[in-house]
Amino acid sequence: MKEKIDEIKKNALNEIENTSDLKELDNVRVKYLGKKGELTAILKMMGTLPKEERPSFGSLVNKAKEEVQSKIAEKEDQYKTEEINKKLESERIDVTLPASKIKKGSKHPLNRVIEEIEDLFVSMGYDVMEGPELETDEYNFERLNLPKGHPARDMQDSFYITTEHLLRTQTSAVQARTLMGNKEKGPIREIVPGKTYRREDDATHSHQFNQVEALVVDKDISFADLKGTLEIFMKHMLGENTQLRFRPSYFPFTEPSYEVDVSCFKCGGKGCNLCKRTGWIELLGAGIVHPNVLKMNGYDPDIYSGFAFGTGLDRLAMFKYGITDIRLLYENDVRFLSQFDRMDK
Ligand code: PHE
Repeated sequence: MKEKIDEIKKNALNEIENTSDLKELDNVRVKYLGKKGELTAILKMMGTLPKEERPSFGSLVNKAKEEVQSKIAEKEDQYKTEEINKKLESERIDVTLPASKIKKGSKHPLNRVIEEIEDLFVSMGYDVMEGPELETDEYNFERLNLPKGHPARDMQDSFYITTEHLLRTQTSAVQARTLMGNKEKGPIREIVPGKTYRREDDATHSHQFNQVEALVVDKDISFADLKGTLEIFMKHMLGENTQLRFRPSYFPFTEPSYEVDVSCFKCGGKGCNLCKRTGWIELLGAGIVHPNVLKMNGYDPDIYSGFAFGTGLDRLAMFKYGITDIRLLYENDVRFLSQFDRMDK
């Protein structure tokens, strides 16, 4: 009997050694230790033996079983480790490879222009201010020397929400807010970039557009300050060779008032299709703050004077980047917007 057990054990250990993976190992386990396995079967033969031989026989079979079990466990460990190593090897990554590029969005051309203007004016000591887009008739018109029924209101076709509220037609509304809000009635130096609204829509006009306003109020502010400031502003935005031309105009909140043209930066003033062969491009409204505006908002026009100007940011961005339709600025087409990526480099 002992030889029989030894032989089964030897065969089992041999077969275990010859397996090559977990599956084969399991087959061997079933063959020897399973319900119908060889070692299980031999244990069942115990009943045929004389009583006194049974204990030593039992212990022999159990020892053989243990040996086979521990050999299986050992092999199992080995296969599992091999499997993990194989997996690790297959998932190996080269950390020295260059990273894949992150696709980042690009700055909107309008934001580029706004930031450029803000940087310039902040460097000259200006504050950057904001105001509400849903404005009152009082600030958008009345406090700017445009009483109800004033004919100049017709220049700006407005979106009224109630009889007293409208979408602001000009960032000039913030001029009145700043003057009124300044408790000390002291000097002011501000620019106001922001959205404005008028009832118009074509290739060069959008019902929503952007302006930037500037207001400077102090003692002894004169036309020379306005002219010098606009020169710095326009040369900075459109190039050192830019010339300015002041034409008399009318705005109720400035006196005298001007339309300011810049020399066409495409043809240098010779005349081309961009400037409609005139050599000039109309870009700004400007003037010396009307004494009524100062008075109405609590400033003494005998002590203080000021200048103001306002310009369309959309037009400025269009000229700067050669954009021919204003609506492109508001369609958010990625193909259009991503072209400005290259300008970051
Ligand atoms: N608010 C004027 C406009 O929108 C521009 C302007 C601003 C003119 C400040 C003079 C002074 O047309």
